[in-house]
Amino acid sequence: MEKHVQAFLHKISYCFITIATITLLLIILQTPETCVDPYNPHTKFHHRFPKSTCDYKHRAYTSLEKRNKRLWATSAWSHAVQSYLNVFQELQSNNLLSNLSHSFVVSAGAGQAVMALKNMGVTEVIGVEIIDSPPLVSRADPHSLPFFDEVFDFGFSPFLDRALFPGRYVSELERTVNVGGVCLVAVEECGPQEVDEIVKLFKKSQYVEAKNETLAGEKMTRITLKVIKR
Ligand SMILES: *[C@@H]1O[C@H](CO)[C@@H](O)[C@H](O)[C@H]1NC(C)=O
Repeated sequence: MEKHVQAFLHKISYCFITIATITLLLIILQTPETCVDPYNPHTKFHHRFPKSTCDYKHRAYTSLEKRNKRLWATSAWSHAVQSYLNVFQELQSNNLLSNLSHSFVVSAGAGQAVMALKNMGVTEVIGVEIIDSPPLVSRADPHSLPFFDEVFDFGFSPFLDRALFPGRYVSELERTVNVGGVCLVAVEECGPQEVDEIVKLFKKSQYVEAKNETLAGEKMTRITLKVIKR
């Protein structure tokens, strides 16, 4: 490249670097102190930005009990619980699940499937999700479950396709379910090829069945597998 062209390009680069730095500085220095309340955008008063993720004082406080009562009374909630209940009852009639199965739900959301298992009479149920929803769901990373190996008889993920690292996610599911136990995963409705791909993620389990079904108001495919080796 000719010297003067190179010098010219360098000049342009410096120019852009300067502009970017100034813009960044402006953004940092000019951050507004307050924000509009997302729950009540028409209010005259603006809230301070939270200083850290733990600073949630600005939110209107609703007791957990009250919030859960409201959530659990919605028809979306009861439809979701009922749809999971139907699936679990079918597993039960096929001897894949019983009231004594130590069960857990990963990616449990707000706990619809956890409630379905409890309502059915399953005595030991644990739900985990990135964000906790007490009392049904505790906080845990699905890719690194805080459980020992083989502690469950039944593991369920209603949203396997939302996993960031499906391979890792599935291996955690298999690790925590004992040999002879059952893994049930649901994904957005898909065909036999995708089902094959998903089954291949399971290195220690045997395919039992796949069914298309509406779960929690969404068309899903659910896949049942049985853990057969360590
Ligand atoms: C499971 O428990 C529920 C509630 O206690 C009970 O109604 C149901 O009969 C039990 N099911 C079985 C198969 O024992």
